[in-house]
Amino acid sequence: MPSLVSAASLGLLAFASHVAAHPSTASAAGSAPAGHEFQAPGAGDVRSPCPGLNSLANHGFLPRSGKGMTLPIIIAGLQEGMNVGVDFATSVGGLALLSSPGLAPTSFNLNYLDQHNFPIEHDASLSREDAYFGNDYSFNQTIFNQVLSFYDGMTEATIPVASKARYARVQNSAKVDPNDIYGLRQLVLSYGETALYLSTMGSPITGVAPLSYVKSLFEKEELPYALGWTKPTVETTLVTLGAMVAQLQAANPDAVPEGLSLGEGTLRDVYELRNPLTGVLENATCILANNC
Ligand code: HEM
Ligand SMILES: [Mg+2]
Repeated sequence: MPSLVSAASLGLLAFASHVAAHPSTASAAGSAPAGHEFQAPGAGDVRSPCPGLNSLANHGFLPRSGKGMTLPIIIAGLQEGMNVGVDFATSVGGLALLSSPGLAPTSFNLNYLDQHNFPIEHDASLSREDAYFGNDYSFNQTIFNQVLSFYDGMTEATIPVASKARYARVQNSAKVDPNDIYGLRQLVLSYGETALYLSTMGSPITGVAPLSYVKSLFEKEELPYALGWTKPTVETTLVTLGAMVAQLQAANPDAVPEGLSLGEGTLRDVYELRNPLTGVLENATCILANNC
């Protein structure tokens, strides 16, 4: 039966070209790429208040120790692990370097990012307690359940619902935390973080992300390969994040300071330590003192 034989060889050919197009580092469906399997942190390893960085370290896209994060390591890890672009990695990575002790540091450890309000950590997180209550860095299910309650009955996270969930956390902190600080910087960072989970667990364009993936990122700090996730084919950049932040803001009547329009420029300013209203470079001291 010649036709069957040729159909079979065509199939083989198709398979061979598929293998060729996917080099050995690619993951089989449903599993992490070789060498990037999930492994919980061991004794002596350190982690951060960021579910994204923690997940990347748990998969070895960043050093599993959580230590010695240089800009080249961050740039490569974010790109390879989640298809997050060099523009974001450079500006936020540069900001994170400020958490390191000493002058002109060239690396940081993930736990340095625990410092409250400097350079990034802030109140009203989606999955961590406010610093006032003692631990602003470990995942907290009770806090995250406030976010999840907005997704009740849904299988996918979306921009409008994520926006409402984010704002509810802001309102909750204002109510329960006598030391709550939520200013311009915190507002912009917080919007950026919601855009990050929708982009990397779903799509940087639509912001639609399966809820099971989002839960894996936050609750287990595990990239959800086992659930079918692969890193998005579209890169997450400051441009895509800015566009999503603008949509998140449009979906919610958050009081944004007069003169501030959320989007790529605002994100970039805050990540690069400029005042998004004046464009003037902030100095680290004023951020540390919480008055800029
Ligand atoms: C150089 C890169 C990065 C640095 C330095 C960084 C740092 C941080 C820090 C310090 C926080 C804590 C803010 C808070 O108080 O809530 C945070 C939160 C967050 N980060 Fe990252 N991050 C980076 C990249 C990423 C990436 C690639 C993702 C992708 C998933 C991500 C997702 C998030 C999310 C969703 C939150 C909010 C957590 C919450 O509110 O509970 N981050 N990040
Ligand atoms: Mg926080």
